[in-house]
Amino acid sequence: MLFGHRNLILAEVEQDHMRVAGRFNAKVMDFIRPHVLPGVTTGELDRMIEEFTRDHGHGLACLGYQGYPKSSCISVNEVVCHGIPDDYVLKEGDIANIDVTSIVDGWYGDQSETFLIGQVSEEARRVTQCAFDCLHLAIDAVFPGCRVAEIGKAIMKEAQLARFSVVREYVGHGIGRRFHQDPSVPHYPSRQSHTDILEPGMCFTIEPMINEGVRNTVQDEFDGWTVRTKDGKLSAQFEHTILMTDSGPEILTPTEDGPQKGHRF
Ligand code: MF3
Ligand code: CO
Ligand code: CO
Repeated sequence: MLFGHRNLILAEVEQDHMRVAGRFNAKVMDFIRPHVLPGVTTGELDRMIEEFTRDHGHGLACLGYQGYPKSSCISVNEVVCHGIPDDYVLKEGDIANIDVTSIVDGWYGDQSETFLIGQVSEEARRVTQCAFDCLHLAIDAVFPGCRVAEIGKAIMKEAQLARFSVVREYVGHGIGRRFHQDPSVPHYPSRQSHTDILEPGMCFTIEPMINEGVRNTVQDEFDGWTVRTKDGKLSAQFEHTILMTDSGPEILTPTEDGPQKGHRF
């Protein structure tokens, strides 16, 4: 942020590239939505995401990223993030986060949603609602020239009200011609986030992971990816890619059919 900071500010034409990438990524999310039902495997959903993206001539950011083996992340129940799609069959009562990142002409769009599979417990519904509300409260909290810390403050406040916890090990991030870049966007007010500024022309994600129990996580020692809650309780997440403009934040990954701000699960 201190040095390469100017490179993070996109010119108008570059902002338009990010709009195109974000809009396509949202189309992937709208495409997969009707298939997210009890009885489907996470591996089948991943294959559909891959095929749809390739059919449109675009790239899959997750596939091969630091050795990641699949095209999307699908994180069920106590899985916080980076769940690897496999032959797991989604069942009534599960909550499943699908995180999709595509590459359109070299530009990245990144977003995720947590889906309720059929009827779920009140606690599962509540943690999903909280993650969704945290994302939108954070979007509403940012403005041109604000500190990144506004995001963490808004999210911590909402999570604490609901008596849930906020994951710290995984954060939002700058995004553009690279998947992950500065600034780091923690979902709690870190020291660095009090000095980092969101200038007009910057693109970044907000992607709060909200846990039913403790905030701590454990990474799977065998696959090296799957991140679970330390206490085995539920975790939910939503993510959008955002462009800061002169007049405020613009969601670059808006879905047509997905939950909109104010939605009640
Ligand atoms: N999409 C995730 C994010 O929001 C990153 C997944 S990286 C992967 O930043 F390698 F696990 F796919
Ligand atoms: Co992201
Ligand atoms: Co993501």
